Amino acid sequence: MSVDMTKWCEIAKANMGKRPAGTGRLVGKICIVTGAAQGFGKGIAEELYKEGATIVIADMNEPLAKQVAQEMGERAVAIAVNVSDEESVANMVAQTVERFGGLDVMLSNAGVVRSGPIAQLEKKDFDFVTSVNYTGFFLCAKYAAIIMEAQHEADPEAWFDIVELNSKSGLEGSNKNFAYAGSKFGGIGLTQSFALELCAYNIKVNAVCPGNYLDGPLWSDPVRGLFVQYLQAGKVPGAKTVDDVRRYYEAKVPMNRGCLPSDVAKAVMYCVEQKYETGQAIPVTGGQVMLN
Ligand SMILES: NC(=O)c1ccc[n+]([C@@H]2O[C@H](COP(=O)([O-])OP(=O)(O)OC[C@H]3O[C@@H](n4cnc5c(N)ncnc54)[C@H](O)[C@@H]3O)[C@@H](O)[C@H]2O)c1
Repeated sequence: MSVDMTKWCEIAKANMGKRPAGTGRLVGKICIVTGAAQGFGKGIAEELYKEGATIVIADMNEPLAKQVAQEMGERAVAIAVNVSDEESVANMVAQTVERFGGLDVMLSNAGVVRSGPIAQLEKKDFDFVTSVNYTGFFLCAKYAAIIMEAQHEADPEAWFDIVELNSKSGLEGSNKNFAYAGSKFGGIGLTQSFALELCAYNIKVNAVCPGNYLDGPLWSDPVRGLFVQYLQAGKVPGAKTVDDVRRYYEAKVPMNRGCLPSDVAKAVMYCVEQKYETGQAIPVTGGQVMLN
């Protein structure tokens, strides 16, 4: 299924050169951050907002997204989306153009994890991870590119960004976490391929690959968090408690702490400010994973 974006392209073209005023490194940038109701997405969106960006908090969890947008301020709005559903993603982009007049940065951050040994992980869990992390990135990039290509036609000097919130697990394999690692490795293949196609329109496409946000809900949620999942999957040899699992992961980081949204936001801003960098996968791992 493909959604007709013609009307929204025309509106976006007419609005080039009309961006919100203010101060900061990202002033005038209209940004969608998917999965921004909590976790990395929320923290990164807050950092971008502080630097003058206009922010769409795009998330499946609409009540929480609304609360986050309201707390952030008048340049933030919540839009409900399921990134694995094409019509929903098209509507998210259309509503962004309707509300703010265009789109400059798509930060594809929404992501999920289902871990477990290969002999036990069910196909439905594998498909779920793939549909959000891999297909979701394709859909977000697709509808961002449609609007950004039109904006490029209206203003060939303007620059746009698609950034995937990838992972260190997109750079090296992850034991008993293959559905996730596979989706993230795939995301880097998409990043490089989109970058090659879209640089003709001044659209940069990069991936940012953080280490573990040990304080965030993905890890620390007491029911569905990774500490609990990894304990149950027996991923950490000898671990008897959630604290044992946490200490094991902290000890793996040369800089001795988990990754924070502020660390990742710096890499996102680097991507946006660059005019000579595309198709890259930038590790933000405290030295845990280094590029070859
Ligand atoms: N937490 C980490 O340690 C870590 C490390 C490296 C990379 N990452 C990546 O960072 C990104 C964010 O992770 P997080 O830890 O903040 O996760 P999180 O679970 O804390 O938050 C994810 C958010 O995405 C939303 N979401 C989930 N599925 C969605 C869908 N189909 N459509 C729209 N929204 C959806 C959820 O409602 C939630 O608000 C993910 O891509 C993840 O792979 C996380």
